Amino acid sequence: MQTDNRKVIIEQGKQFSKSAMWRIQRNYFDREGINAWVNQVPFYITSNPFIARTYARIVLGMIRDRLKTHPEQTKNHPFYILEIGTGSGRFSYYFVKTLHELLDNAGLSDIQVCHVMSDFTKSNMRYWEDHHALKPFVEKGWVDFALYDMEADRPISLIYSKKHLNAETIINPLVVIGNYIFDTSLNDLFAVREKQLYELTVNVASEESNMKDNWPVEMEKVDISYNANKIDSNYYGDSSADHLLEEYRTTLRETVFLFPTGAFHVLRFLKKLSNNNFLLISTDKGNGAKHTLDGAGRPPIYFHGSFFSVMVNFHAMGQYLKNGGGDYFVQTPRKGIKTNVFASFGLKEMPETWQAVQDGVEGFSPADYFTLHRRMSDSFQECTLDTIASHLQLANWDPHIYLKIASRIIAIVEQADVDTIHYLSQNMTKIAANFYDMPKTECVLFEIAVFFHATKNYVEAKRYYEEALPFVGERFGLHYNLALCLHYLSDDVTSLTHFKRALELDSTSKETQEWINYLEKGKTGPKPGSKDTSDEKKVEE
Ligand SMILES: C[S@@+](CC[C@H](N)C(=O)[O-])C[C@H]1O[C@@H](n2cnc3c(N)ncnc32)[C@H](O)[C@@H]1O
Repeated sequence: MQTDNRKVIIEQGKQFSKSAMWRIQRNYFDREGINAWVNQVPFYITSNPFIARTYARIVLGMIRDRLKTHPEQTKNHPFYILEIGTGSGRFSYYFVKTLHELLDNAGLSDIQVCHVMSDFTKSNMRYWEDHHALKPFVEKGWVDFALYDMEADRPISLIYSKKHLNAETIINPLVVIGNYIFDTSLNDLFAVREKQLYELTVNVASEESNMKDNWPVEMEKVDISYNANKIDSNYYGDSSADHLLEEYRTTLRETVFLFPTGAFHVLRFLKKLSNNNFLLISTDKGNGAKHTLDGAGRPPIYFHGSFFSVMVNFHAMGQYLKNGGGDYFVQTPRKGIKTNVFASFGLKEMPETWQAVQDGVEGFSPADYFTLHRRMSDSFQECTLDTIASHLQLANWDPHIYLKIASRIIAIVEQADVDTIHYLSQNMTKIAANFYDMPKTECVLFEIAVFFHATKNYVEAKRYYEEALPFVGERFGLHYNLALCLHYLSDDVTSLTHFKRALELDSTSKETQEWINYLEKGKTGPKPGSKDTSDEKKVEE
């Protein structure tokens, strides 16, 4: 490493897939663990109940197809689902929960399914191990954990069952889920000019002030330049990859494109692991059709604070698999993310799977849902309660959405019609069941309690305030609201205890003192807040 005009040259002329940039990326995820998702790495788009349901329907379709063609095998051996680069685990929770609901509804609860949450870093696994929502699934054997590094070829050992995933133990097709993972995995860079193919190597440098322990701190402040070197055919010595490069050279007019060598490595590994019997579902930003790769002036690489991501060349992944006898389906272009399905077998030979792909990937897809959700999020303040309820239904009763609109719901619930209030009340249990706690996120159980409090359903309000306590901790608002509910439920003794605890947490609260005086004097004198038309206005929002 040499220093040049306060710029540190980190590397020069490196093949992109061998660049230090990828190591910086790995270090970032390893170091941050679950904190990567606290306002840094976007994740809602691939970690919501809607996308989880789309995936669960595809897997249910595959199980049904296999029941028809391989009934004994399907009934007697587990289906393994390997999620790679799992991250926070929120997607996994929604997926496992929904898949088992679907299996139950279809009368297939006897089918054994084990969802293996994997990541290359132990930091994420430590978070899953202690997670309140995952524990019951682990106990039932529905979920297991494993360390899996996409860059390596090591065997996959399950932490709890101590089983190993390999061609002998995987009898049914292996389902693999890889969301937002191929955009941070190894790629090479090429350019096509006048039917000639060039490899782009990278030069990476950074201001000295952005360096710590010989590594850049902020990826956004890293300077990258490229050198173009003309190359001949057979660059990789891998016929599937070389064949594809040749196809790009002869059919693309003028462009720079990414070549996903990390994804190719994963596809080869999965083929071996599953005895060439797997289905991969992946959602990410990227290019599906070949023509969308053409005409790019510069490499599609994006820098976000301490890490970077690339556009996934899904077309190359699909063709690479197809060149080796597999099949794939890429969604027609939508703005934002794309969901894609890759298989070692012909997708159309699996009618139920194919139907689920047509409905949930080519039809109303996770990308369509996200576009609609974003527009709705911008206009919640103008929505009536029935519109909000319908959107929550579309979102499969997603706590993330509920938290965004809880204050609007409380503001308009008093004017809403009985049917809508009943509809929402009935489905609050689904929102609560979808609660997957993450650092620095609000607790939806508290907001559900506030909803029931505002609709004067004090029994349910009390229940949810109590359930929220371990997550929100000792908070004035929780004890004060709980005390109010207990009073309306005629339990003044416990109510007084909570008013006193509220006062300890906020000694300036005059209302709390008034309630304590009122209850201690045997409810003689004016009732605190009784002049107010609605006591629930004191509900903490
Ligand atoms: C952008 S996050 C995506 C997380 C999650 N799938 C989602 O959709 O929110 C990338 C994840 O891949 C993991 N990861 C990075 N490099 C990896 C590798 N070589 N092998 C396996 N996982 C890796 C990171 O730890 C992180 O959890």
